Amino acid sequence: MKLIIDTDPGIDDAMAIAYAAAAPEIDLIGLTTVFGNTHVHQSSRNARFLLHKLGIDAPVAEGAPHRRGADSHTPSEHVHGPEGFGDITEIPQVGSNHTMTAAEFLVDQAREHKGELVVCAVGPLTNIADAMQLDPEFAGNIKRLVIMGGAVFCPGNITEHAEANIYNDALAADAVFASPPDTVLVGLDVTLKTLYANADFEALAARSADMGGFLRDISKFYLKFYKDIGGLEGCGLHDSTAVIACTHEPMFEMVETGLRVVAEGTQIGATRPDTGRPTVRVCRDVDGAGVVSLFTDRVASLP
Ligand code: RIB
Ligand code: CA
Repeated sequence: MKLIIDTDPGIDDAMAIAYAAAAPEIDLIGLTTVFGNTHVHQSSRNARFLLHKLGIDAPVAEGAPHRRGADSHTPSEHVHGPEGFGDITEIPQVGSNHTMTAAEFLVDQAREHKGELVVCAVGPLTNIADAMQLDPEFAGNIKRLVIMGGAVFCPGNITEHAEANIYNDALAADAVFASPPDTVLVGLDVTLKTLYANADFEALAARSADMGGFLRDISKFYLKFYKDIGGLEGCGLHDSTAVIACTHEPMFEMVETGLRVVAEGTQIGATRPDTGRPTVRVCRDVDGAGVVSLFTDRVASLP
């Protein structure tokens, strides 16, 4: 499967990119970056560093620095650390970004791999909405859009009502759901059923010293956040679960519904069913233990 991950690495984004690198079904043809967990220039630096570490020669195209209608962004340093990788703050600059913007790269690759390309968006949906605006054929050219975002049947994480990726650009998310491609939504409804605990990271690092060890090291900060905020003994495999949904749909129970995103007020970012809109497939349940063990087995195959 030809895959582009639109990402804001980010600790769980790093895990998802490592999973994609290890998955034999996936041909990772590039990463596009977006603001979110970090500033976008940090997302791009981290994305290039990860690809280099994974030995993947694929481009990184930088995208939006902030949500639609804003002129700046405040990253989630308290969740992902000051540089996006927890306590690890010395991250080398490796290579340089693609000359195209993220939206241009998405449009270009969708044309080149018409009907084949899957886009997995694991950050705010700004780049996806921009690509749809840049090329009205984009939605029809891709095979599928798989989104990590939303909390349709459960409470949010950034507010009581909203999940972070959707909240961070509610206008862009609503624009995507207004005329979606073939879309699967992988929200907190399922990603909080894929908790990955400290012991899982240690077991992973024992099997994969370099990449597994790196993920264990950056995750300590993330695990502490989950423990302090929710009393949880593990972090959700949010972005990895979305990548797994690209290739392993039978592990998910889905319902079809249209979606609308609340764009203002106290419930901004809430993702609600709307029967007047084109349907997307919303994941409502998952084989969480299966996702955890697939993630471990695949990533453990990396050096
Ligand atoms: O709500 C979880 C999502 O927000 C993940 O994509 C995480 O990386 C953050 O961006
Ligand atoms: Ca993310």
